[in-house]
Amino acid sequence: MDFHESDHAEIFRNLLLDHQARLCFLYPLFFVGGLFYGVIVGFLGLRAIGTSTYAIENIVNDEFDIALKKLKNQDAICKKIREIQLEEQQHLEAGKQLAGDNYFLSRLVQVIARSGAYTAKYMASVL
Ligand SMILES: [Fe+2]
Repeated sequence: MDFHESDHAEIFRNLLLDHQARLCFLYPLFFVGGLFYGVIVGFLGLRAIGTSTYAIENIVNDEFDIALKKLKNQDAICKKIREIQLEEQQHLEAGKQLAGDNYFLSRLVQVIARSGAYTAKYMASVL
């Protein structure tokens, strides 16, 4: 999973360069927020990590679907996104398995994960 994420980050860094785009200037804040969130979830244990992974990967999958619709005329980018999306769907399944059934903190972890992710997306879109 770590190899996938590093590879995906490299692909998106190159796409930003190719399109002369830049990261949101709050990117370091998102990094620190994500790190803080990850540590908290880590302290809650493996089932919380699985639940969080599942929640985040669902968002990633939805966002890739949105991107594929927006970029439908750009075959090269869509091909890369579809390849990445397949790997992210593997992470989603791994998270689902790790979370298991009837985890008592599932709802809370998912609400926090979704709130954080969509807050970051909104902030990135307006800044
Ligand atoms: Fe992932």
